[in-house]
Amino acid sequence: MRRKIAAGNWKMNGTAAALSELDALAASISDDRATVVICPPAPLLYRAVECTKSSPIQIGAQDCHVQTSGAFTGDISAPMIADTGAAYVILGHSERRDAHEESNSDVRQKVKAAWAANLTAILCIGESGDDRAANNTLDIIGGQLSGSLPDATTAENTVIAYEPIWAIGTGLVPSLEQIIEVHDFIRARLITRFGADIGNAIPLLYGGSVKPDNAGTIFQAENVDGALVGGASLKASDFAPIISALAAS
Ligand code: 13P
Repeated sequence: MRRKIAAGNWKMNGTAAALSELDALAASISDDRATVVICPPAPLLYRAVECTKSSPIQIGAQDCHVQTSGAFTGDISAPMIADTGAAYVILGHSERRDAHEESNSDVRQKVKAAWAANLTAILCIGESGDDRAANNTLDIIGGQLSGSLPDATTAENTVIAYEPIWAIGTGLVPSLEQIIEVHDFIRARLITRFGADIGNAIPLLYGGSVKPDNAGTIFQAENVDGALVGGASLKASDFAPIISALAAS
């Protein structure tokens, strides 16, 4: 049995007023069949940890620097994130790969930095619309997996999120067959590289326009162990039914 994880990526949304959504979300979680992780913007991390202390909600960051400290104005290190009480960090999100030109090797160094601070990495991979149109999806995914995942990957230190770039924030969602094809491919690659025990245990999330009305269908795929949710994680009333659909899957 793999861990089921519903993770919310708030991206650059939310000030202190948004913390009330965490209270509402905590009140709506009725069982522990799915781990719930919320990744707010960095200035909210500490307060988010404080206000979820007596709830099952875990807190994560959205990026970390490779170094632990130093002259890197504006950046945040993995030990700083861990110091807030957060337990996860999203790494290699396509918005960072694009806007900050993060390469697979940059992302791999960040994953190692996260592990060194005892954070669980949520590694994002995904193809562009052009990659998919050119039938290059599996090549791109294979390259991102081999380039971004360090050798010491385990099911405890890493979660993988498949997020097709063309599905992020667009309302477009791959067909269930397309999701199954990519998730089965990722699972096979993980087993080949890390062995059956680790490869079968690493949770695989789908991300990209997950909403309450499509979550149940997406969670039917055998190798989909949860979701990384953007827009629909901002309101507890949207995220709670996605969590329930995952728990029931
Ligand atoms: P949306 O759910 O808003 O499409 O965003 C997905 C995403 O990028 C999560 O990391």
